[in-house]
Amino acid sequence: MRIPKNVIEQVRDASDILSIAQDYVRLKKAGRNYLGLCPFHSEKTASFNVSPAKGFFKCFGCGKGGDTITFVMEIERLEFLDAIRWLADRAGIEIPKTKEEGKAYDKRESVYAALRFASEYYVRKLKEPNSGARAREYLHGRSLTEKTITRFSLGYAPDSWDSLIKAAADVHIKPETLEKAGLIIKRDDGSYYDRFRGRIMFPIRSHVGKIIGFGGRILVDHPKAPKYLNSSETDVYHKSNILYGLYQSKRMARQEESILLVEGYTDVLALDQAGVGSAACCGTALTLQQVTLLGRYVKEIRLLYDADRAGMEATERAIDVVLAGGVAASVVSLPEGEDPDSFVREKGADAFKLHLKTATKDWIDAFFAASLSDDGFGTLHKKRQAISGVAKRIAYTKDDILRKMYVQKASQLFAIPEGDMAHEITRYARSNQPQQQPTQTPPESSTSAEPVNFDAISEPEKMLLQLMLEEGGPMIEYILGNMGYDEFQEGPSRKLVDALIKGYETHGDGILSAIQSKGINADEITQQLVAHVLVPRHEISEGWEAKKINVPRLNENSKRIAQDCMMRVKGKVVERDLQRVKHEMMNAPEGSEEQSRLQKEYLGQKQYLLKINNRTLFDD
Ligand code: CTP
Ligand code: MN
Repeated sequence: MRIPKNVIEQVRDASDILSIAQDYVRLKKAGRNYLGLCPFHSEKTASFNVSPAKGFFKCFGCGKGGDTITFVMEIERLEFLDAIRWLADRAGIEIPKTKEEGKAYDKRESVYAALRFASEYYVRKLKEPNSGARAREYLHGRSLTEKTITRFSLGYAPDSWDSLIKAAADVHIKPETLEKAGLIIKRDDGSYYDRFRGRIMFPIRSHVGKIIGFGGRILVDHPKAPKYLNSSETDVYHKSNILYGLYQSKRMARQEESILLVEGYTDVLALDQAGVGSAACCGTALTLQQVTLLGRYVKEIRLLYDADRAGMEATERAIDVVLAGGVAASVVSLPEGEDPDSFVREKGADAFKLHLKTATKDWIDAFFAASLSDDGFGTLHKKRQAISGVAKRIAYTKDDILRKMYVQKASQLFAIPEGDMAHEITRYARSNQPQQQPTQTPPESSTSAEPVNFDAISEPEKMLLQLMLEEGGPMIEYILGNMGYDEFQEGPSRKLVDALIKGYETHGDGILSAIQSKGINADEITQQLVAHVLVPRHEISEGWEAKKINVPRLNENSKRIAQDCMMRVKGKVVERDLQRVKHEMMNAPEGSEEQSRLQKEYLGQKQYLLKINNRTLFDD
């Protein structure tokens, strides 16, 4: 069972910690690193840190850390060698196997191999000049390009009862394995037949890209055959936690922090071709597991279902599930009778993108509109029900401000007092509780100290700490070259500065990795402060922008940001001093030496403040 050392190294080199971690955690760029909510313990502020350059992760909250292999071992709960196999598979690295190993090889693996084989077979059949011609024509007729066909590995299952069985036999894949993969079906007499016949094949991939099943659309309509046929549930295919297209759209989704959820395979394809990322449930209603999966990539799910009765009902249900999963929900409406695929085909990509901008509504508006009929609510009872429905959904919102905005909005929409609406929501907030975090693992934490509240430290000061932590050496030198130790708040803030100075002295430019591996000595509260300030910047403070401080975009002029922050921190200190001096001045005897000394001090401080505000204070 040994895996050669050089193969392990090869796997290690080919495994990028960032892209792997991003399949489990929504990460935000923060300096050279990435930050997000730790997948190993439950937390509200991001302390899970990934360093792509160094190839490791570290959680300041629970202390877990290590390289890519450790990450996979922990998150997939695998032994070392299995983690290597997992990574090798993902990277497409072949691990040499002996005959014995071949036998012992995980049964699941042979199922995956059968699925991969089937997909390649269907792709080949689609390309075959004769047998694939009609299917190709069909796809082109739907305006799908070769690029899209390849990107989604579309294929064709010939209209035959045993073509897959035969092709698989040629490469020694047994019918039993094909059956386990959900590709063939056993007859009463023990013989088998192909499940997919005469169908356009859509391989369904897991979010990491493994083929786990298929959807098949009938090529020639037949009254008795369903238009779409999906793989049956197998050991590797569980339709309730799979989203079609997520593998292809996740990168875009992550960037935009938002994804469109559509109904059909063809919608995903048409949108992808138009440059818009989306995903679809494979012929089922949206589940909490799917929302949780999407929540790793996005903050918002935009529901874009077909503009028909069924689509509307599905939207209403989906809103519920999305919100229950702790993800923001919005709804995009389409002209009556359209689906995303038809819209893009008729009107084009640009028109569709424009439509997205104008026709996206907050879920509450969509929900309200949907509960109205032509004559309003009809009966008061119906209105009462709609109020409950909205209240229940608002109750999922954890953010206080957002919830208050929803209360306000709902009370306006229904024309009832805000207090009543709020009261109704509290009722639901309690009953929603146990459902809120569906896949929550019990919090495990290595910190014994109570969480500390760092509100006393001003935002600009936190930003300075953050900059030093993220950018390391040069930034520490720059900031501490311009700030006195006692200009930082007494307590945790100064302690952290202390630790940074000491760390910099010992580790030099290696300080960043030292911090990440807890190589700098800091007590628990200081560690907590580290985790606290390393929150993605845009979440730091809502009022930040209003205060005319540039909201830092990564590395973009971080010196300037540091200056802005130092200006504010220093300004505060000086203003406090000015107040004190002014007060003392008023109390000093008229004409006394004391008074003139204070006057001088006052003027001096005033000038200093001017300098601060002019930035002439800082060296570049
Ligand atoms: N579906 C299914 N079984 C069916 C019909 C539909 O599983 N008998 C699922 C498929 O995932 C399909 C989705 O529901 O993609 C949406 O169905 P529909 O709107 O009917 O299909 P379209 O995607 O519009 O397909 P087409 O345009 O090819 O007719
Ligand atoms: Mn369609």
